[in-house]
Amino acid sequence: ATSTSFADIVQMDWAQLKSVVASCTQCGLCKSRTQTVFGVGDQKARWLFVGEGPGRNEDFQGEPFVGPAGKLLDNMFGAMGLKRGENTYIANIVKCRPIDAGKHDRPPAAEEVAACIPYLERQIALIKPTVIVALGKTAAISLLKLDPATPVGKLRGTVHRYADLPLIVTYHPAYLLRNLKDKSKAWADLCLAMQTYADSPS
Ligand code: URA
Repeated sequence: ATSTSFADIVQMDWAQLKSVVASCTQCGLCKSRTQTVFGVGDQKARWLFVGEGPGRNEDFQGEPFVGPAGKLLDNMFGAMGLKRGENTYIANIVKCRPIDAGKHDRPPAAEEVAACIPYLERQIALIKPTVIVALGKTAAISLLKLDPATPVGKLRGTVHRYADLPLIVTYHPAYLLRNLKDKSKAWADLCLAMQTYADSPS
């Protein structure tokens, strides 16, 4: 396989990017994956939701957020008047499932994020969403280039910027499934996102 440089990625159109990702070997996660998970939705979506990385279900199905956390995400969409695949795009920070030696899910390592994030950055440049919602800490710190020790609780409640795009941070749906007490805070974050969307010119 030939190696793909960052300079190549920033020139790619959607179809090229998709095919390069499908056969990517830029980090070790390629060895254990069933398939890459590029993202799902409308390429012209004005809403972009970014998670952490594929889990077991996503690795099998090739689509992000198709397990229990995905069900919650779909419910969050419903509460916002949104629908998967309609004016929404869902992607992850890494496109291959990170697993540990015991084959359990784990967060992506810094070098895996560094190897993969140019793809997401190109997706964002091509989609040009109106609002980005970072689902959880990995998405937030990776896109905003923050100290990994920063808690999500410190990042929510304000509108951040990714390039020139507004980015709102909220809890990861998988975290919310384990911490129901934070659901109302997540709803407040989604309201901030909807307000930001409504206030945006295009
Ligand atoms: N969790 C994520 O962060 N992304 C997925 O696609 C599924 C679960």
